[in-house]
Amino acid sequence: MKLEGSNIVVTGGASGMGRAFSLKLASTGANVAACDMNQEGLDSLVTEAEGLPGTIRGYKANVANEAEVISFFDQAWADFGSLNGLVNNAGIFRDGLLVKKDRETGQVKKMSLKNWQMVIDVDLTGPFLCTREFAERHIATGQKQGVIVNISSIARYGNQGQSNYSAAKAGLVADTVTWGKELARYGIRTGAIAPGFVDTPILQGMRPDVLEGMLKAVPLRRVGSADEIFAGVRFIIECDYFTGRCIDIDGGMRL
Ligand SMILES: NC(=O)c1ccc[n+]([C@@H]2O[C@H](COP(=O)([O-])OP(=O)(O)OC[C@H]3O[C@@H](n4cnc5c(N)ncnc54)[C@H](O)[C@@H]3O)[C@@H](O)[C@H]2O)c1
Repeated sequence: MKLEGSNIVVTGGASGMGRAFSLKLASTGANVAACDMNQEGLDSLVTEAEGLPGTIRGYKANVANEAEVISFFDQAWADFGSLNGLVNNAGIFRDGLLVKKDRETGQVKKMSLKNWQMVIDVDLTGPFLCTREFAERHIATGQKQGVIVNISSIARYGNQGQSNYSAAKAGLVADTVTWGKELARYGIRTGAIAPGFVDTPILQGMRPDVLEGMLKAVPLRRVGSADEIFAGVRFIIECDYFTGRCIDIDGGMRL
């Protein structure tokens, strides 16, 4: 699919990778419907995009809330005429071990159901709702070409301290395959990107010694940039023979 002139939804567009993807897309002449819960971040994104070849509009919505997702897609579809692409990027993490014995007290702490559910809601139910609403409108309005890019993580292979996040990100890759099979007949392709460590506000808040320790597992010995992850997003959008697969962009790291 050609980027120039296409209309693409980016969830979690106010910060980090979603923000970088939105600006890169608008730089290539695509128009972006950026959705996020952070209104301030959306406002500054729209301002930053002024003068770029493509336009960016901001929409406040929680991807885990069915009613908000439906009204976001109704509004964005009306504003843009139609939408051709969806980047399911919004995500959170609430790390913790499943159970952990305290060395001093002997007490066993557990990952709370709340922290499990919050991550599943945003990182897995969110993409399910957005993909469903995107595909429904695509089919109902007789669109010819559509593409969905899911932002997973290398935690999809299973990572200590991330029962919730690993399950959501692995589930998202499984559904990339499922949706690739189910939606091909309607002209919709899918793809996922599983990034390793990427330089976003999450990592910028990390202690330098902790980050250095983590980078020992990365053959390329550095974090990736959002622009490098965008290269994968762009490939999935542009390559019309790509569907139902996940690309790991992780500097060669193995968990
Ligand atoms: N940064 C990394 O190293 C890394 C690595 C692998 C995967 N990822 C994934 O990449 C994606 C983007 O991560 P990032 O590092 O840019 O994070 P970030 O925190 O900088 O940005 C995430 C954005 O999503 C928004 N968001 C959160 N919950 C939302 C909700 N319920 N509805 C709508 N918007 C919501 C936030 O407001 C924020 O603007 C996430 O899915 C994350 O899991 C990140």
